[in-house]
Order: sequence, then C-alpha cells, then structure tokens
Amino acid sequence: MSTGIDDISLYTSDFYLDMHTLAQKRNTEYSKYTDGIGIERISIPAPDEDIITLAANAALPVVQRCDKTKIGTVLFATESGIDQSKSAAVFVHRLLDLPANCRTVELKQACYSSTAAVQAACAMVARDPEKNVLVITSDVAHYPLESSGEATQGCGAVAMLITENPRILEIHPESGCCSADTWDFWRPNYSNYPLYDGKFSMINYVKTCKAAWKEMSETKGISFDQIERFCYHLPFSTMGFKAHIKLAREAGSQKSQTELENQLLPTIQYCKVIGNCYSASLYFALCSLLDNAPERLENTMAALFAYGSGCSGEFYTGTFQPGYRKYIRTDMNKKLIARRKEIDFDTYLQFHKAADPIGNSSGTYETPVMTTGAFRFCGTKDHCRIYEPCSENVQ
Ligand code: CAA
Repeated sequence: MSTGIDDISLYTSDFYLDMHTLAQKRNTEYSKYTDGIGIERISIPAPDEDIITLAANAALPVVQRCDKTKIGTVLFATESGIDQSKSAAVFVHRLLDLPANCRTVELKQACYSSTAAVQAACAMVARDPEKNVLVITSDVAHYPLESSGEATQGCGAVAMLITENPRILEIHPESGCCSADTWDFWRPNYSNYPLYDGKFSMINYVKTCKAAWKEMSETKGISFDQIERFCYHLPFSTMGFKAHIKLAREAGSQKSQTELENQLLPTIQYCKVIGNCYSASLYFALCSLLDNAPERLENTMAALFAYGSGCSGEFYTGTFQPGYRKYIRTDMNKKLIARRKEIDFDTYLQFHKAADPIGNSSGTYETPVMTTGAFRFCGTKDHCRIYEPCSENVQ
C-alpha cells in the first residue's frame, strides 16, 4: 500500500508589502532584497487574519472535495501558535464542520513540524487506511521592525489530505533525519518576536541539510542525480539555492551551477512573492513546483528538505503520480496570489502592530473587517478568540 498527498491547497493573506516600499523606508538597495535574499513581496496579515483563518481558508477546498466523514485526524503544524494550551486544530475543526469523532492536535518544532505531521499522517493512514488525515501547516513570520529579518516576513497556510493510494505525491518510507540542540532561532513565551542569529541559522541550515542527506543517501541507497526535483524549506529563496549547490558538491554531482539553479527555479516562485511562511514554506515550494514546472512531473522523483531551527531537519522522497495535474489547483493558486492588494507603509505598521502575539490583554476587543477570505478573526471576548465564517466571501 502507498501513502502520501492526495490533495493540496494553499492560502495567503489579502495584503502584501512591496519590497520597493521597504527598501525606500529602510534606506536599503532594492536589489539586496530581490537578488540578495530573493524576495519581491511579502504577505502581511490584516488584523482579522491569523494562523487559524489562513489555515481554514487553505483547508476549505480540500474539505469541500473529499468525504469529510473519512477525516479521522487533523494535525496542525505551526510555530506561531495563538494559545499555549488549546490546539489550533480545534478551531479549524469547528470552522470546517468536521466530524466530532476526529483527533485534533497541534505540533511544534519551528519550521520542521509540518514534515513531522506529514510523516505521522502517513503512519496513521498505513495503520488504518479507512481514515484520512488532514495536515494543515500555517504560520505568520513576524520580525521586529527595522531588524535584519524584517524583509523575510510573510504568512500563509497549506492544507494536505494524506490518504492511501494518493493521487498527487506518493511519499516513500525512505528518509534521513538530523537533530541537535542549537540556538539559531527561537521565541520565548514572553516575546512577541523571535530571537535569532541570522548568519548562524544559515550555516546550521546547510549543516543539517547535508547531515540529513547523508543519512538518507547512505542508509537508503539514494543518489543525488537520481532525484529529478528538489524542494527546500525556503525562509527566503536564495537560502534554497545556497543549500542545493553546497549539497550537490558534497554529494559529488557533476551538474553545473546553472543546471542546479534551474532545477530549483519552479519551486521558488511563490516564496519570492509571499515571503517566509515558516512551517508552511516547504509546502509552498511543493505547490510552486506543481504549478510552475516546465514539464510534466508524472513518475518523477522529488526530494523534500524540511528544516526547523533549534534544530531538526529531514530529507524524504516522493514520486509524482500519473494524472496528478487533474487534482492540483494551479489557476486558483495563481489567482489567489494575484488578488492581493498592496499596502502602503503606514498600513504595514498598523498591521505589524496588530500581529504582535502578546497584544491586547484586556480580554475583549474587536478587529476591523478587512479580509475577503471565507473566515475571519473577529477579536476576543472574555479572553476567548472568536472566529466566524464570512458566508458572503465564500466562492
Ligand atoms: N544587491 C544584491 N545582493 C546584495 C546586495 C545588493 N545591493 N546587498 C547585499 N546583498 C547580498 C549579500 O551579499 C548577501 O548575500 P550572501 O548571503 O550570498 O553573501 C545577501 O544579500 C544578504 O545580505 P546580508 O547578509 O547583508 O543581509 P542581512 O544581514 O540583512 O541578513 C539574513 C540576511 C541573515 C537572512 C536575515 O534576513 C535574517 O536574519 N533572517 C532571519 C533568519 C533566517 O531566515 N534564517 C534562515 C535559516 S533559519 C530557517 O530557515 C528557519 C526560519 O524559517 C527562520
């Protein structure tokens, strides 16, 4: 029996900040953002959007197309959780009207948790193929104003239905993991923002990538040139190129730098215009590949690399299934990204403040109506977060 991704859907905020605006305000060359880190626009959540609304919007098309009664588990991966106790999966479970006899839980290990969720989901489906698992990965990458990370913000969610005999990507049992206790990026409970050592985090990313690859290639007998496509966790798109080229050289590949860069190009298209989505970034790279690959991917093999600071990394492989193009949502994804409205710098500052996780402590406040998505965060009442469907926005 095979297991893997049977359906996949993405969502991002209604609003973006253009890097021209940030470059001008931060007195930085625009080319540093576009060529140096590889980001042209970043999605910024409105005050009535958060990881829950992003997630519910991403998952809605998946749930509308499947038999909801077969969803036995919702695994919600995030590193920008909105509660220290109650799982984000429970909120989405209600918004999507999923069956009560469903397991719901949230997973955390920085940007890696989405891949832990995918692997756990494959194991659950192997154990009980009658039940499917809905994996949702959703994050808001939120850095201090004027910090080096500011240009690498972003937000978005990807929902995946994991089933037996999947129609999009069969996930192979072969994988390679690497964990180590490092301080490259973390967020203490009392902080609105992550603390990070940017340069060290990049070095640690590459080190973990090489170690995970070595583990997979040596123990499972997989060679670099056997893999047609690579998808990387993309905090910004040039991070993927750096890791890929270093890995290729270490693995002894004879491919030229241009060939290696071309291999990644279809995977970075969404990162370039959305920014970092933390745990969802790797799966935005996968969607970007599915939607932008110049040739059909049927029966080709992909290797996916997940990296979560702190740190955990994993490489795993999968094969794109015959006929997968019938089940992906290329036009919808492109329209969704193109529909976003540009915000000016003052609006960006307002949205940035509203996204501070340790915000209003009065326990009751309302958010302005801004999103055009199918769900919105209305504010809090007596410290309870209120989410509602916006039926007028449902397509
Ligand atoms: N034109 C073209 N390129 C330019 C340029 C210009 N005018 N000016 C600078 N550059 C280049 C630089 O040469 C550099 O390229 P190299 O890395 O190839 O040398 C690149 O642009 C970035 O410039 P700096 O190193 O000066 O940038 P910075 O000090 O502002 O920091 C950063 C960049 C470290 C990535 C910072 O954005 C950061 O700390 N981000 C958050 C942490 C992060 O994303 N780490 C990634 C690994 S950890 C992870 O993956 C988990 C996660 O999601 C957070």
